[in-house]
Amino acid sequence: MTPRDTTLFCLVLCLGQKIEAQEGNLSTPTISATPGSVIPWNESVKILCGGAPESYLYQLEILGNSTYTVVEKKWGFQKTAEFVIKHMDTNTAGRYQCRYRKQYSWSVHSDALELVVTDTTNQDYTTENLIRMGVAGLPLVVLLVILAENWLGRQVLPKEDQQELPELSCSRQKTQTEWTFGLTPRVTR
Ligand SMILES: *[C@@H]1O[C@H](CO)[C@@H](O)[C@H](O)[C@H]1NC(C)=O
Ligand SMILES: *[C@@H]1O[C@H](CO)[C@@H](O)[C@H](O)[C@H]1NC(C)=O
Ligand SMILES: *[C@@H]1O[C@H](CO)[C@@H](O)[C@H](O)[C@H]1NC(C)=O
Repeated sequence: MTPRDTTLFCLVLCLGQKIEAQEGNLSTPTISATPGSVIPWNESVKILCGGAPESYLYQLEILGNSTYTVVEKKWGFQKTAEFVIKHMDTNTAGRYQCRYRKQYSWSVHSDALELVVTDTTNQDYTTENLIRMGVAGLPLVVLLVILAENWLGRQVLPKEDQQELPELSCSRQKTQTEWTFGLTPRVTR
């Protein structure tokens, strides 16, 4: 090879490499959510995907069982694409990622963005349930306290006194049934 050929060869090679680098090396897109990634149920959220000014297509994907599926595509030259989820629920919550297209290639995927939905109605329901359970449990506690006091008081009585009072044995039997009755819900809880 003559020196001229070598130079030409190098020029072609270097040029080719430069073009390849330009096409294949797109910056990693950014992904973010406003107002935040924790969204109350039925509220809206904006997902922003940041690419390059020359990108003409953005694609938002959500992680299904094990693979990402396309949620939405946005066409048009823009540096940042905006995806809106109008009503957050358990189906729209999950891991998102995005990528953009520039010239003839796709960028790599962005980092994953986890969107969490807070179920406010369910939370109220749970609190309400807890209060209801507490109110229902209160008489049971009072009953147990009375029974305990009753039982402790009877222990103090001498044995012959108990036999003299027929209604006492009757009330004792009653308290025993109440004991078992009172204990069952506590066990199942
Ligand atoms: C991609 O481009 C960045 C600058 O934009 C550069 O720092 C990096 O080395 C390039 N990577 C490759 C593989 O060419
Ligand atoms: C969800 O929000 C919209 C307004 O953004 C409202 O019209 C609708 O009634 C809400 N749905 C429920 C089930 O609360
Ligand atoms: C995800 O997995 C569940 C069970 O593992 C299956 O029933 C469901 O169809 C899958 N969904 C998709 C979108 O593949």
